[in-house]
Amino acid sequence: MARAFNFCAGPAILPLEVLQQAQAELVDYQGTGMSIMEMSHRGKHYDAVHNEAIANIRELLNLSDDYAVLLLQGGASLQFAMVPMNFLPAGATADYVNAGSWGSAAVKQARLIGNVNLAADCEKDIPTRVPDASELKLTAGAAYLHLTSNETISGAQWKTFPKAPAPLFCDMSSDILSRPVDASQFSLIYAGAQKNLGPSGVTLVIVRKDLAAKTPKTVPAMLRYQTHIEADSLYNTPPCFSVYILALTTRWLKQYGLEKMFRRNREKAQLLYALIDASGFYRGTAKKECRSDMNVTFRLPTVELEERFCSEAAKAGMSQLKGHRSVGGVRASIYNAFPVEGVQALVAFMKDFEARNG
Ligand SMILES: Cc1ncc(COP(=O)(O)O)c(C=O)c1O
Repeated sequence: MARAFNFCAGPAILPLEVLQQAQAELVDYQGTGMSIMEMSHRGKHYDAVHNEAIANIRELLNLSDDYAVLLLQGGASLQFAMVPMNFLPAGATADYVNAGSWGSAAVKQARLIGNVNLAADCEKDIPTRVPDASELKLTAGAAYLHLTSNETISGAQWKTFPKAPAPLFCDMSSDILSRPVDASQFSLIYAGAQKNLGPSGVTLVIVRKDLAAKTPKTVPAMLRYQTHIEADSLYNTPPCFSVYILALTTRWLKQYGLEKMFRRNREKAQLLYALIDASGFYRGTAKKECRSDMNVTFRLPTVELEERFCSEAAKAGMSQLKGHRSVGGVRASIYNAFPVEGVQALVAFMKDFEARNG
């Protein structure tokens, strides 16, 4: 069996054990004679999968009963709109940190709904970075402060989160469950699943129940967090197969725990950053203090060399290394499921490529 070292930023590599279990159970799920995709989402088999996914996330993040865990659809992109629709009332202001393309996308949607203050705006800074907590210009009485924990495109990541009097909301799409996080500092966390959690199609939302209970009833039912809290994320047909893979992926993750997974992720990233730092050929694009453990972004001396690098790497079994189309360069996305052997292979390839082209 040939599995590529798949560096895609998302949909990203999944644990092989998860794929193999899904394969084994695909046609006949637990003796039912049908797959999990073909049965009622209100039956006992799907119910067990749904509840396991939620329980695993609760356990991994050590969530108290103050939080609801929701499995929604529409990706993180729908959350860009749902968050202000639910939590940014007329006349109020929400603080947003814009440190990259995803923060900026969240700001654009929030501005359609209400007042937005840019607490910091470093989207265009080179090297790419997230701001220091001391730079934030916060609004007194803000409805919330919104951050993006890891800017997937620029490769900049918050290492510790700022404190603010307003409720802290965070788009964790590209580093959720990659490291231990004190979830109690957040009032709302959301993440599209397709990097660290499973396939696309399911979106994780963790929200404080007391805040969600206060959201306006004028928000349409599907877009209201309270609807999904009351229906235990079964208001309408859920993305059953995505939730099933989410349950398997979080079960896999529990064997490690977040502390161990974080150490593994950090070691993988350091292998690449050590080589980049020692090289005059490769240039990291993010500021050292905040460079991402998930998306390692770098440049080569010319665009032609970058293109050759990505195409030769692909031929050597290392695929999808091309940087995001909006910024170019090279991006190695090395989420939880990405094996250390793949990073070692990339390091060896990078040394060889430099020797031949440097
Ligand atoms: C940090 C971040 N936020 C939001 C999104 C958008 O997610 P989705 O495609 O699930 O809407 C992405 C996608 O890559 C992302 O990396």
